[in-house]
Amino acid sequence: MDLDRYTRRIVVTGGAGFIGSNLLLYLVAKCPDYLFINVDCLTYAANLGNLASIENLPNYRFERIDIRDYPRIQDCFERYRVDSLIHLAAESHVDRSIIGPAPFIDTNIVGTFNLLEAARRRLGQTGSFRFHHVSTDEVFGSLGPEGYFSEQSAYGPNSPYSASKAAADHLVRAYHRTYGLDTVTTNCSNNYGPFQFPEKLIPLMIRNAGAGQPLPVYGDGEHVRDWLYVVDHCEALDLVFHRGETGQTYTIGGQCEIRNIDMVRRICRILDEKLGGGPREDLITLVKDRPGHDRRYAIDPSRVQRELGWTARVGLDEGLRRTVQWYVDNADWLQRCVSGEYRKYYDMMYSDR
Ligand code: NAD
Ligand code: DAU
Repeated sequence: MDLDRYTRRIVVTGGAGFIGSNLLLYLVAKCPDYLFINVDCLTYAANLGNLASIENLPNYRFERIDIRDYPRIQDCFERYRVDSLIHLAAESHVDRSIIGPAPFIDTNIVGTFNLLEAARRRLGQTGSFRFHHVSTDEVFGSLGPEGYFSEQSAYGPNSPYSASKAAADHLVRAYHRTYGLDTVTTNCSNNYGPFQFPEKLIPLMIRNAGAGQPLPVYGDGEHVRDWLYVVDHCEALDLVFHRGETGQTYTIGGQCEIRNIDMVRRICRILDEKLGGGPREDLITLVKDRPGHDRRYAIDPSRVQRELGWTARVGLDEGLRRTVQWYVDNADWLQRCVSGEYRKYYDMMYSDR
């Protein structure tokens, strides 16, 4: 392939996951002069079918590589003469990290270290490499009823997941300070929208409510999350990747705080309106709390707004309606996630690796 035809050659890790799919659908169409290499090892959370509409475009490539495998990462970076990275690959579900933390340490910490090393090598070869690390607000821990997380917030992770993401954030910072790697880090609040695996709150509740199954809300249901429609996050990532100041971090959030119990009630009401029947609120069941459950997250996004002109465009009412509609329209996608059927697609396509 003619690599010189592209003005940038960007690896996107985790591009077959929820945010990664949305980001690639957005960027591959928007930037035909860039080559995007989706590096993903295809865990349970990946679904290549999400990318069917771009898989044959000339500026898109898929590489089934595990970021824990340094030699293959290095080979990929050199084969494509990669000059930038947007790093989303991670084990991302808090409950899984509580049950089994080991893959979170391996992928989120060691995997990020491998990418930093491969990027450092490219920096030595070419003199520049942009490393955009996609992180989470969970690294800051839990808020009380008042206040917001910002770029100045102290780290205080409470789950193996958030601790592994915090460790990765620190490594990225160290590679900027020590080696002069051109890094940016974004710490974002809870995303929602199409293609989210139905282990996370919103798609799980849509799926269960649609199937008439119990809606398990942890603890007293009063925990607060600050929700952001995933396409708004993709727009922020685009801006920070292109214009974020080197070595800096940006907190990103939708300023849409809501208690979990109220979120689940809203989903029930939307489904009642769309599908009839109900009230699905009757399916809500308070269950044992998540250990170490953070009480409240909320982001102050004023830096990314002020410096890069970003603003969340999709409010919670609109975003939730769109999201519920997407899952209703794509009931087969949801069903294939639950049954594991979606994996057959790539087990068949990539059975040689
Ligand atoms: P996801 O779980 O939906 O997708 C993760 C992707 O990473 C999958 O495609 C998976 O196959 C891939 N992956 C996992 N381990 C890998 C490995 N060892 N090698 C290569 N690929 C691997 O995650 P998501 O919700 O899309 O989150 C993406 C990123 O954004 C994560 O880094 C997460 O910490 C961060 N984030 C997520 C949210 C959110 O609300 N979902 C909010 C803020 C930040
Ligand atoms: O804040 C950003 C983070 O948001 C990301 O870094 C993580 O990758 C992402 O998974 C998400 O973490 P949360 O733990 O906040 O998301 P989750 O969807 O798992 O849960 C949202 C809230 O809902 C949380 O307070 C726990 C609660 N919950 C979740 C599930 C799955 C329930 O009450 N019942 C459930 O069944």
